[in-house]
Amino acid sequence: MKFEVITLFPGFFTSALDQSILKKAQNKALIEIYIHDLRPFGLGPHKVCDDVPYGGGGGMLMCVEPLVKALESIPKVPQKRIILLTPQGEKLTQKKLKVLSEYDQLIIVCGRYHGVDERFKAYIDEEISIGDYVINGGETASLVLIEGVTRLIPGVLGHEGSLTQETFEHDLLGYPQYTRPPVFAGQKVPGILVSGDHKAISQWRKKKALHITRKKRPDLLDELDHEQD
Ligand SMILES: C[S@@+](CC[C@H](N)C(=O)[O-])C[C@H]1O[C@@H](n2cnc3c(N)ncnc32)[C@H](O)[C@@H]1O
Repeated sequence: MKFEVITLFPGFFTSALDQSILKKAQNKALIEIYIHDLRPFGLGPHKVCDDVPYGGGGGMLMCVEPLVKALESIPKVPQKRIILLTPQGEKLTQKKLKVLSEYDQLIIVCGRYHGVDERFKAYIDEEISIGDYVINGGETASLVLIEGVTRLIPGVLGHEGSLTQETFEHDLLGYPQYTRPPVFAGQKVPGILVSGDHKAISQWRKKKALHITRKKRPDLLDELDHEQD
């Protein structure tokens, strides 16, 4: 998988991409991440990338031309998806991450200021939001997307089986988990987990996952009911 990020703040990514899973996945050549600085595509001698919006209203907007030029500069592969990060986009979910992980190249455009000139939307495949809130720029959102997709790529985590038991798999939250010590400040690890009875453990986990989902996120069970109707 190739991730290509267009940003006005390339320095933002320096440390984040050089840590933990993302670093290992790059070292194993399972992913490639290219950060494209938008600034050189800016207009005029000052490489301007933003301007005031028509109609007023204050703030700045990212100009369409530098964005299009930056996009055009990226060599594309056939199985690609061009994504604009915006709070107005489709909300990112685990299901959506899986769909995105099937592509060979994700080109991710990070907005800043008041967002991008509407005409840029003619050049993208889709708009994605990381949630119903507004942050300052698409850079943080792009890291969420890149990390979420990367961990689904076979070979990245090294224990893919555990992915199928995670929160949001089968529209359920994950079951409670414990590690050593067996007792901490009077709180004991549930006896069943140290029983060695794998069938009983599996049943306990399913029950707990269902119980926790019903308590914390009943909306997920509603979705599940709709899917099965
Ligand atoms: C301050 S926001 C612009 C918000 C815009 N004025 C609006 O009302 O939709 C600047 C940039 O941050 C990014 N951004 C902010 N919130 C986001 C979210 N929830 N999901 C994805 N990107 C987001 C987008 O790239 C956006 O263009």
